[in-house]
Amino acid sequence: MTTRRLDVGIEGVNEVYEGPGGVLWEMLMGEQIHVGGESETRVLAKHAGITASSVVLDVCSALGGPARQLAGTIGCSVTGLDATSKMHDEAVRRTKLAALEGKVSHRLGNALDMPFRAASFDVVWGQDAWCYITDKARLIRECARVLRPGGVVAFTDWVETGPMSDEQWTALNAFMVFPYLETLDGYVSLAESAGLTVVAREDLSPDFARHVQMYLDALTDRHRAAIVAGYGQPMYDEVERGLTMWRDASAAGQVGRGRIIARKPA
Ligand SMILES: C[S@@+](CC[C@H](N)C(=O)[O-])C[C@H]1O[C@@H](n2cnc3c(N)ncnc32)[C@H](O)[C@@H]1O
Repeated sequence: MTTRRLDVGIEGVNEVYEGPGGVLWEMLMGEQIHVGGESETRVLAKHAGITASSVVLDVCSALGGPARQLAGTIGCSVTGLDATSKMHDEAVRRTKLAALEGKVSHRLGNALDMPFRAASFDVVWGQDAWCYITDKARLIRECARVLRPGGVVAFTDWVETGPMSDEQWTALNAFMVFPYLETLDGYVSLAESAGLTVVAREDLSPDFARHVQMYLDALTDRHRAAIVAGYGQPMYDEVERGLTMWRDASAAGQVGRGRIIARKPA
């Protein structure tokens, strides 16, 4: 488990995603704002054992792309929880447009204080977003609380994978507005402390490094002009600087991504 913390919280997250952040990340990564897009959602759904009868909670659901894919392709019910009004409102609009309101609903709320009763869901799901959460132990306890006995927590997240100086650690997290990154071992301990049994853990870091390079290439080759025109040169320069830093750290094995599947005892 890591101990360094940056003093950023939910207000910082809201500022990013109410502002240009959500648009920029969608530009670079697609409507599903996680590494691997739809194919990763298919893989995680398989690991989570989602079926048409599953009741799923997507924690930090952003624009609701994964929720609509799961409901549209598997037929399960999905609730998306997100703390940023702009992302929530846009998710509601897109779900209505896709005529999936019968299967997909969206709630505005904080993952650290979930507005759901205990044992409400068969699967609690997360993709590349829990890195924003200030108290990951409390987050995992909340996931365990809202999960029914025998249910599954399935998530991917960006993780710390190697040593770095305080200066580099601060620069990487500050650019993304992350309070800190957990480690894969740290997530396993948090899951176990919350009474969950970890059934699978995977280090996906080489694929992460490849994707960060792809996002940087997309930024410099395809999106430079649009970002400069829409948000100005200083904003473009800041994004290129930050992504270059993440590309270098992921190539050096200092940051990466992992997948964890854990079960609540029946
Ligand atoms: C990278 S996006 C998530 C992408 C989404 N999982 C997907 O795959 O499309 C991060 C999202 O997490 C949300 N978020 C961050 N901290 C949160 C919190 N404490 N509670 C709820 N949502 C939060 C942000 O508002 C933002 O929409």
